[in-house]
Amino acid sequence: MYYIGVDLGTSAMKLLLVKNDGAIVNSTTKEYPLRFPHPGWSEQDPSEWWDALLSGVTELLIGFDANEVVGIGVGGQMHGLVALDETDKVIRPAILWNDGRTAEETAWLNTAIGKEKLSEYTGNIAFAGFTAPKLLWMQKHEPESFAQISKIMLPKDYLNYRLTGVHACDYSDASGMLLLNVKNKRWSKEMLDICGVNESLMPKLFESYEVIGTVLPEVAKTLGIPASVKVVAGAGDNAAAAVGTGTVGNGACNISLGTSGTIFISSDAFGVDPLNGLHAFAHADGHWHLMGCMLSAASCNKWFCEEILKTTDFANEQVGMEANLGDNRVFFLPYLMGERSPINDVDARGTFVNLSLDTTRRDMVQAVMEGVAFAIRDSFEVAKAIGVRIERSKLCGGGAKSPVWRKMLCNILNIPLDSPKTEQGPGMGGAMLAMVGTGLYASVRDCADALVQVRETVFPDPALAAKYERRYQQFKRIYPAVKDFYKSLQQEV
Ligand code: XUL
Repeated sequence: MYYIGVDLGTSAMKLLLVKNDGAIVNSTTKEYPLRFPHPGWSEQDPSEWWDALLSGVTELLIGFDANEVVGIGVGGQMHGLVALDETDKVIRPAILWNDGRTAEETAWLNTAIGKEKLSEYTGNIAFAGFTAPKLLWMQKHEPESFAQISKIMLPKDYLNYRLTGVHACDYSDASGMLLLNVKNKRWSKEMLDICGVNESLMPKLFESYEVIGTVLPEVAKTLGIPASVKVVAGAGDNAAAAVGTGTVGNGACNISLGTSGTIFISSDAFGVDPLNGLHAFAHADGHWHLMGCMLSAASCNKWFCEEILKTTDFANEQVGMEANLGDNRVFFLPYLMGERSPINDVDARGTFVNLSLDTTRRDMVQAVMEGVAFAIRDSFEVAKAIGVRIERSKLCGGGAKSPVWRKMLCNILNIPLDSPKTEQGPGMGGAMLAMVGTGLYASVRDCADALVQVRETVFPDPALAAKYERRYQQFKRIYPAVKDFYKSLQQEV
């Protein structure tokens, strides 16, 4: 039997064909464009996701018996607003999780409605990337399009809708809309009213591992798979990645170095960070988690290497870097698309500090990678401050493939980091959710216990961790020093 796990990412879709023993027997990646129609805006065309799914699944199954496919699970980029009209046509390009256009709506929610009320209704406050401020933005700036909305959904739910015809969403992804009462797992009537949305426009809610339907006959025919293939609700990519790395149960932690960078702390009970620096969301295992999310993580390195240094050979840029860990005098603030956790500042931008004539190309690449790790540490500190003890963490995402980045992060956080056998967290998590939904395992926990194995652990080196502690204390002073300047710069645009 085969399960298809899909990671609907920001730069590409990654698809995995997974056997019932957990072995990944095939994988494929389909890229699609990310559009920035205005500085700080970020959009994608949902039909390009669907085309990627169709061609990706077809390619994935070449040489395999497609009749053996029993389930599909998607983990998807969170928060993006996908709106369909009465005829199921996508009304406008999806506004993505790293889009910063809603500064005004976000500020209005956090002040006029107030953080306390938002937190009471949803467990969270407003951040620019969340879905509710995007609805308010659309209502104000595109009222005719807003009036046409007949279905609201998140990116992976669009794929599930095209696959099954069922308008569904799971609790982990729905948590990031700021429209869900996360604790009680139901749509918040108060928030829907604030956003001018009728509940009939919202998807039906499911646990991530629940089956929402089977593939539509015409889709089954196109893909060459049986029409009996079940589709589970799936999850937001971070919850799916957590499943894929075995981050389930109380206190388990996963760090993902993808386009975004996240620190995900799983919990059996619902809990809120009293200062709302961390998101309080549902987990794909049926429980909850706290999460800090930085908007640009591995994407900072990709940007610096590809756009500035004009190379795609990232490993080559890291040659010799290991000997220089802890000794770099250059710093980088990784806020290329503004920042979410914990500073919640849409105006912040990327910044190099302390360059000199002897600064090398490698120092700058190292500063970019260290800046990302220091920013993850910022969210880690918020978790520590509210009493969450993180003694070790799993690590996944494209950035986790770099041994030097793993070592850097391990020493900056001063905890051991476990790399699972597959770094493909969300896709693997999607396939695992499909295994649970189709009855192969009784629970997400059982599935994770049976399938996830650690490939390698990096342990902190006390001398290096001490050097990095000093550097982190220096890094922490940079953002407050330039914060107001960013604001004035963005106001002038
Ligand atoms: C999480 C978040 C990002 C996206 C990236 O809150 O916004 O991690 O899900 O895909």
